[in-house]
Amino acid sequence: MALVPLNSSSFGRKDPNRRVPNAARFELPWSSEPTAADDYSFHQIAPYIGRMKTSMARSLIETWTRQGDLIVDPFCGCGTVAVEAAANGRGVVAGDWNPYAALLTRAKLFPPAGVRAAERRLQHVWKVSRERLCEQDLRTVPKWVRQFFHPRTLRSTLAVRDACVETSSINIRR
Ligand SMILES: C[S@@+](CC[C@H](N)C(=O)[O-])C[C@H]1O[C@@H](n2cnc3c(N)ncnc32)[C@H](O)[C@@H]1O
Repeated sequence: MALVPLNSSSFGRKDPNRRVPNAARFELPWSSEPTAADDYSFHQIAPYIGRMKTSMARSLIETWTRQGDLIVDPFCGCGTVAVEAAANGRGVVAGDWNPYAALLTRAKLFPPAGVRAAERRLQHVWKVSRERLCEQDLRTVPKWVRQFFHPRTLRSTLAVRDACVETSSINIRR
């Protein structure tokens, strides 16, 4: 796919020696083929409408930035650019007005330290959720949603949701 990017001056580049691709000949090596086999597995955590192709994000980052540069994505969605940037040694500032997007991106950028840490966190959330089970009022859930679940399953799901919010180290909303 050929792409003509904005003129380099529109990115506010101040370093005259910086390598900037020739706009007229600028080609990025991404294709419409699926790249899931080469992708960081974190990209597959959740679907997101309008997600950028991972190969496109990687290609832009490698072409336009260097190790240690700071990449700002104020419309981070599910964090494709943010993950590629961090994985390729760039600093990242990411944001999104959709709390789900911010949560997904944060989860991908700050994963548990390992499987053991993830298991410990899960066990803690599960324990707290069992304590919240009897507090759940299924009438707070829209009727059409209730129809999809057995009441016991729905009550348990709500309790896990509450436990996740309660035990989170970040400010997430119900
Ligand atoms: C197409 S997605 C971005 C994809 C992302 N850059 C990636 O790496 O895959 C667009 C995002 O912009 C967010 N958005 C739209 N308008 C916004 C605004 N005014 N402030 C913050 N986020 C906004 C949407 O919530 C959505 O998550």
